[in-house]
Amino acid sequence: METGGGSGRMAGGRDARVRRAEELRRLIEKHDRLYYVENRPEISDREYDELYAELKRIEEEDPSLITPDSPTQRVGAKLSGKEAIRAEPHRSPMLSLDNTYSEGELREFDGRIRRFLGLAAGAEIEYAVEMKIDGAAVSLWYERGLFVKGLTRGDGEKGENITHNLRAIRDIPLRLIPAKGAQAPEFLEARGEVYMPRAEFERLVRRQEEEGEEPFANPRNAAAGTIKQLDPRVAASRRLRMLVHTPGECSGVRWRTHLEFLEGMAALGLRVNPHRRLCRGIARVIETIAEWEDLRRSLDYDTDGCVIKVNDLEMQRALGFTAKAPRFAIAYKYKAEEARTRLLAIDVQVGKTGVLTPVARLEPVFLAGTTIENASLHNEDEIRRKDIRIGDVVYISKAGEIIPQVVRVAKEERTGAEREFRMPDRCPACSGKVERRGGEAAWRCVNQRCPGRYRARILYFASRRCMDIQGLGPALVDRLISEGLVKDPADLYALRTEAIESLEFEGEDGVKRRLGSKNAEKLIDAIEESKSRGLARVLAALNIPHVGERKAELLAERFGSMDAIRKASAGDLMKVETIGEVVAQSVLDFFGDPGEAALVDRLAEAGVVMKSSARPAAAGDGPFAGRTFVLTGTLSGYTREQAEALIRERGGRCAGSVSSKTDYVLAGRDPGSKLDKAKKLGVKIIGEEEFERMLGEQK
Ligand code: IVH
Repeated sequence: METGGGSGRMAGGRDARVRRAEELRRLIEKHDRLYYVENRPEISDREYDELYAELKRIEEEDPSLITPDSPTQRVGAKLSGKEAIRAEPHRSPMLSLDNTYSEGELREFDGRIRRFLGLAAGAEIEYAVEMKIDGAAVSLWYERGLFVKGLTRGDGEKGENITHNLRAIRDIPLRLIPAKGAQAPEFLEARGEVYMPRAEFERLVRRQEEEGEEPFANPRNAAAGTIKQLDPRVAASRRLRMLVHTPGECSGVRWRTHLEFLEGMAALGLRVNPHRRLCRGIARVIETIAEWEDLRRSLDYDTDGCVIKVNDLEMQRALGFTAKAPRFAIAYKYKAEEARTRLLAIDVQVGKTGVLTPVARLEPVFLAGTTIENASLHNEDEIRRKDIRIGDVVYISKAGEIIPQVVRVAKEERTGAEREFRMPDRCPACSGKVERRGGEAAWRCVNQRCPGRYRARILYFASRRCMDIQGLGPALVDRLISEGLVKDPADLYALRTEAIESLEFEGEDGVKRRLGSKNAEKLIDAIEESKSRGLARVLAALNIPHVGERKAELLAERFGSMDAIRKASAGDLMKVETIGEVVAQSVLDFFGDPGEAALVDRLAEAGVVMKSSARPAAAGDGPFAGRTFVLTGTLSGYTREQAEALIRERGGRCAGSVSSKTDYVLAGRDPGSKLDKAKKLGVKIIGEEEFERMLGEQK
């Protein structure tokens, strides 16, 4: 592990500060690369944060020490209207690829190449096969190792200058750091794909739906839409990733083969796809493509196929290009994963902010590993656009391999009995007025006190990342509301075992059950336990618009108590990193609303801890509180039971299977399919060493 020399305040003069700043930049770059590009971090997040904070402090004390490639300068200011994103020429055209869909077409591609090169009948061509990333193509320019420009593909001749957004992507080094034996070329243009990891896409779509925005249809659109924003903070907050796959114009370097080029990129600190393979002859290519088909689901990006390239770069040059695509490369497209089912009904759900979301109830159908019964239809326009009717036979796919969606309707199978859907003109939960604000895709219930909203708010409040109240699911919340026991989150803390043990509610399996005294006690314990989650979680649980987990943490850190946040002015709030006018106003509005203020008071009176420091050591507290671990494979230093005990002692939880709710997958030797699932969902994977470090530092 390397974190460099002394920390804390700098002694010595300017020279020493210049040297330490440079040393810190190198260290941060190195650890960025280990974490983001090579996926094998050597230091903990906390140690990393300390390095970053030290550099930031030195630069703040003497801004003349700031360099454009400093890690602190990744996210710059929003472009103003006048500086709108400009189109600029590519050094050489950025072309697309021809597609193939069958083995026969691949053999034809191989035949064309062999004829073009005049190869003898027995001679095999070496191909490089790579997974094809379904993202947004970009070009990165490095001059003497410094990242100077980034363009979208655009029309292939000219692309849009999106340097400000690409700088905010942590996979893209601001300066190349050649590994031992490698050298940064004079000029390097590396082309590749920016993509949004599936887990990130899922998070974004949920948020967009919640806020009444038009959600992105798939991760590709989400990535393409994000890199064209004027404000780089948007790209930074959406955690985009990048993989390099093609050389552009370069000087001062030569590679012999495509795979050598990829290795070369990795040696300079750029990220390349591990799913690449050298195949001798087209038969081996075909085998590889078949072998990789199932891999698709375990990746953190969407793929629609593979790319096959002649590996030898000299041969590539000889083959050249047609007007539209290279002759030396081709894409092979996999069949889309779709299932056919019937749409039985469309229900309308009320969200925390009153947004009404139509949800398709489907005849259960199995697709890519799970049974699907519901699919969000997002909003009314989406239903019109796809002409979806109740009773239709529909095709379902999973956007980003996670979110079920209706792709299209089998109109030819209509019998005439299908019914058109109309958005209700009253809220389905409170029968109150609904409205559609100008420019928004969503209808909203305008009733601030709508029980539908409260239902969604209670579920959110109790969710794992907020107050984490185990056992409080939708069916039970519905019963609690219909019995008049609970209206809002604060009412949860007044519940007593005797009042709820006789409640009957329908489980997920459709069977009615009594809660019973044991479960009732467990639930009351869980509610009690949730009081000590700490300020950041309470803040997030309150559902203040624009204040998610991260901002809640920053506010909690800065102010230390709910009272201090309530007293803060807009100016005070805006001193917190990433909090601007909109968020500050939203916080002020929230506490200015008498209903919300009363809710917070009642939570405090019930004993919910509203301070960030003085957290009582209750069950569920501890350094791993709220974190869920899943173990896979064999550890060398612990049995599974020992490792689980260590996690629990620190307030963490151990689960048997990986889901989007998992925080860490602890992987030992011979890990199982849980590791693939973790990769697919973008869950953080740690090894035994990292685990020990976490134990050590958080004792
Ligand atoms: S090679 C001359 N390799 O797919 C074009 N492209 O459908 C060379 N893509 O425009 C492109 N993964 O944006 C190449 N491993 C990969 C790729 C890849 C994704 C994209 C690329 C291209 C599009 C064509």
